[in-house]
This record gives sequence, structure tokens and C-alpha cells, in this order.
Amino acid sequence: MHCLKKVTDDLIWVGANDRRLAMFEGVYSVPRGVSYNSYLLVDDRTVLFDTVDKAVRPRFLENLAEALGSRKLDYLVVQHVEPDHSAVILELAQKYPEMKIVGGAKILEFLNQFNDFDFESQFFFVGEGDSLCSGRHTLHFVMAPMVHWPDVMVTYDSTDKILFSADGFGTFGALNGALFADEVDFSRDYMDEARRYYTNIVGKYGQQVKSLLDKASTLEIKMICPLHGFVWRGGFKEIISKYALWSGYEPEEQGAMVAYASVYGNTENAAEILSTRLRELGVRTAMYDVSVTPSSEIVAAAFKWSHIVLASTTYNAGIFIAMEDLVNDLVAHNIQNRTAAIIENGSWAATSGGLIREKLGKCENMNIIDGMVSIKSGIKPKQRADIVALADAIAATFPKPEAAPAPNAGEPKIDPAAMHALSYGLFLLTAKENGKDSGCIINTASQVTSSPMGISITVSKANHTHDMIARTGEFNVSVLTEDADFELIKQFGFQSGRNADKFASCGYDERAANGIRYLPRHSNSVISGKVTGSYDCGSHTAFFAGVTQAFAISNRPSLTYKYYFERIKPDPKPAPKGKSGFACKICGYVHEGDTLPEDFVCPLCKHGAADFAKL
Ligand code: FEO
Repeated sequence: MHCLKKVTDDLIWVGANDRRLAMFEGVYSVPRGVSYNSYLLVDDRTVLFDTVDKAVRPRFLENLAEALGSRKLDYLVVQHVEPDHSAVILELAQKYPEMKIVGGAKILEFLNQFNDFDFESQFFFVGEGDSLCSGRHTLHFVMAPMVHWPDVMVTYDSTDKILFSADGFGTFGALNGALFADEVDFSRDYMDEARRYYTNIVGKYGQQVKSLLDKASTLEIKMICPLHGFVWRGGFKEIISKYALWSGYEPEEQGAMVAYASVYGNTENAAEILSTRLRELGVRTAMYDVSVTPSSEIVAAAFKWSHIVLASTTYNAGIFIAMEDLVNDLVAHNIQNRTAAIIENGSWAATSGGLIREKLGKCENMNIIDGMVSIKSGIKPKQRADIVALADAIAATFPKPEAAPAPNAGEPKIDPAAMHALSYGLFLLTAKENGKDSGCIINTASQVTSSPMGISITVSKANHTHDMIARTGEFNVSVLTEDADFELIKQFGFQSGRNADKFASCGYDERAANGIRYLPRHSNSVISGKVTGSYDCGSHTAFFAGVTQAFAISNRPSLTYKYYFERIKPDPKPAPKGKSGFACKICGYVHEGDTLPEDFVCPLCKHGAADFAKL
């Protein structure tokens, strides 16, 4: 039976999950399964983006039939011919002889290699920058060779601002009923699998991934639809910043990845002594036994950490088998820009250390610390001292943490950063006066009493909504959720209701019992308040209100200020060449100039000079 997921009003996920596959591509274990994503756009013409692996063909065909209904398939956009996405193309080409297969020359070449069929008569060639109109949607094609194979292209739907990213932004793991990354705790539960997917599948092609990121940075993107894993409909900032690091071979974390190969436990003992000493020196460590941990996990860890320590026994006058495989894998995946250290063991002719050094030495910008430790069987006091000395040498290569200033030295100071450590949510505050609606973004709303139910809000006096509430005594608070995007924050936070109708193009008009608008999307709850008192706080007014209505809209996680900063707010662009300036850390507004007056107030979000950083 079909099992579809709606992506947007006219885009349907028709893919399928595989939890029986043991080894993806025959190499990478997938204990949590894998999804093969395919998307059907139901426009004036129907457009399918890729197919799936043969293992899930029956479910995919059921999904596609249900999504198409009585329609036929007009276009099949093929972004990548690797068989995990192309196994059903031949069948669809035969079933829909009038269907056009859209792709570049390499796509056709590879289709012909994998199949014995004349695809050419159905083929619709596209190249970089070409576009295709399916009715309401216009699709633009962007070539992305070697992200993962030479045939790869991605597609940008400029109507709904959706990037179909092929293998890019993919993740190992079945979807388990969810579809969107914001339906799960992606950072906690899936980032490790996203890293393992990236590093092992496209890690070798960092330069090509960077080129694609550069092209994507020129597009307004509201959603990313990859061929594996979750769809992103906001909150891209963290995953994109990870891609920037991974593709540049820059570490995510300062710390040491320690991988060891030990037959009888002595090399493991050395690795433990080293790691223990590193921890004593404040260096974070992650340890892996190469005989039991799949190489794909250790390669991913090497991309994550700044330092790599390899400890290996000698085996058949060479490197121990699993360690040799790992080192070859690291070199093949282009690992670079790391500091490395080596420990070898050998009972009669230790060679593993020198051989590892030779292989790692081929990697770009690999700083291998002198003082390799050589052990002969078990560890003696002299060798223990050598291991400790190696740990000390490794620790010395880490940047020294800046000493925090003594809090009570000199006059007491106010560091705004301490305020940012408070936990806040983000809310849309709405009001209505004389038939006019307005709203603004606030980060201070909290329950103050439970009987009777009461809340407080604090609003900047610069906001038009503030004045409306002061006069009418009524408001609604919509609790924003993690799928809210920067456009929404800009719409309500970075323009004034005095000279703009913030609801002009919103396309909804839901109102609570008090007749005031609320946000039916990107929010999970609405609370209506009737003001019972207020307190003048200078730049802001704190309003206290009795709750007159409260209801839930969705169970999506509430948006916190921290989440907004880390995943939604774009980083400020660098100052134009030859110019200096200050960027607002809240909204990204750039004030050009060498100085910033102390009483400067951001014209967009109304935050003060303390929230600006020099570019
Ligand atoms: Fe998911 Fe490169 O195929």
C-alpha cells in the first residue's frame, strides 16, 4: 500500500525506506537504514525527480501511482544515475513512452551504460543554466559534477525556492515516519550520520562541493530536498556551516581522534595512557578500536576532530590490516589540515609507524608531530614516559584558551554576552486597532501566574505594536517554532508597522476570539492577553495581562533564541572591499564606518550598539 508524504501543496515525496540493507554501496554499514527519496511535482505537467533503488521498487511504484492518480508522467528529471536512484528509470521509460527524460549528456551516457535501451529518443538535454517550465513552476538546472559522480546535476525551483540537491545534504538513516529535519532532533540524533554520509560519499570531492555551495549561495532557498535523508524547510544554517567546514577539510572540534590497532592489548594500553594524559591536559579525545569500529565511522571522526593519533601494531612486517585499511581510506578521502601523531608496536621488527607516516605524509597540510613512540611488545617505564611526552607535545599544539577576566577586577562591568546566556523563546506579538493589524517579534513572554492565568510581555517602545497595545490593552502571542525562516523574522521584525502592512502578502487571516490575528503557520500555540497593568522599563514597557484564550496549533518544537542564532540567522556578509563597518548580531544590518556611536540603535531590529560586532 502507498505511503506518501506531502512536501508542499503540489510536491509529494514518493520515495521509500530500506531497513534491511546491511551495507550501503557494499561498503558502509547502515544500521539505522537508509531512505531513497523521489519527489513528484504535480503541476500543469507532472515532473518526477529521480527514482529509487531496486530494493524498494514496489513501494515506490505504489507511491508514484497514487500521487499521479489519473495523470500520466510528463517529465523525469534525472539528477544522478547511480543505481540507488536510477533502478526504475527503464521501467518508467517503457511505461510512459511520451515521457521526457531530463538531464545532461553524462546522464544519458551513464543511462546507456547501465541499461540496454534507446533513451535518446525520449531524452531532453539540459545544461548549466537551462530551465524548464512545468506550468506554475520554473525549474533551473545546475551542473554539479563529482558531487558524487561526474553526471550529477541539481535543480532549483525558482517558484517555490526549492533546491533539489541530489546526494548533497543527504543523511544515512530511514525516515521513520518523519520527512522534515525539524521533525526530529537532527543535531543530536542525525548529525553524526550526516557527517558519516558526507565524508564517505563525497568527502574526497571537497572542491566540487565548495563550487556547488558557492552557486547555491546566490539563490534564495526555502527548502532543500536531497536524495537521502530528511528534507530541510528552514534551519539550514547549521548543516550549511558543517558543509563549509567539511568541504574545506577544516575540523569542527578541537580535540584528538585516537584510533588504535591492538592484537593483545599492549598497543591499546599505549593509546589509553596517551588519551588519559591528553584529558589531564584538557584535550578532548575520542577513541576507536579499528578492529571493531567500521572504517566509515573513523573517517567521519577524522573529519570532525582537529588532531589524529594512530597507534598500530606491526603485522607481517607491515601495518596491521584494519589500520592499513583505515589509513588508506583517510588518504583516499583527501583528509588534510590536521595535526597527527603516531605510536607503533613491534615485537621484533617494528615497521608500522614509519609506513603510516609515509602514507599520511602524502596528505596536504598534514603536520605529523616528531617523536613517534616505538614500543617493543609491552610498555616499560621508559616507554610510558615517551607516551606521556608525546601527549604533552600534542597538547602543546592546541591554541591556548583565553583566560577569562577576573569578574571583580576594577569597576563592576556589564557584559551583554552574559545576557545572551539567558534562555529565551521567540514570539510573534500581534495587536489590532481601528481595523488595522500589526505585529512584531519579541523574545520576552512568560507566564507569571497560574490562578488566575497571567502572562507578561516586554516590548520596545519603538514598535508600533507597543503603542497599539498601550491603547487597546489587548494582544495575541504566537509561539514561533523551529521551522520559522529568516523571511518571517524579517517580515515582522525588521520593518515598522507604522509605514508597512506586515500582513499584506501573508495569505492567511486567522484570528483568535479577541479578533486579533495570530500566526497559523510556524507556531505551535497562541495565547491571548488582556492588559491588567504595565511597568515603564525605559526603552521597553513590560505589560502584565490576564489570559483570555490559549490554544495549541502544532506539536513542533518552540523556536529558542539560541536556535535562531545558530541555525536561522544568516551570518553577516563581510564589509565591502576597502570599507569598514559594524554588523548587527541580531539581524545582520551593516553600519558602514570606522566608529559606531554608543547610543546607536539598529534601524531594522532596534537593538543597541552592544549588539554590533566590528566586521
Ligand atoms: Fe545516493 Fe551517489 O548516490
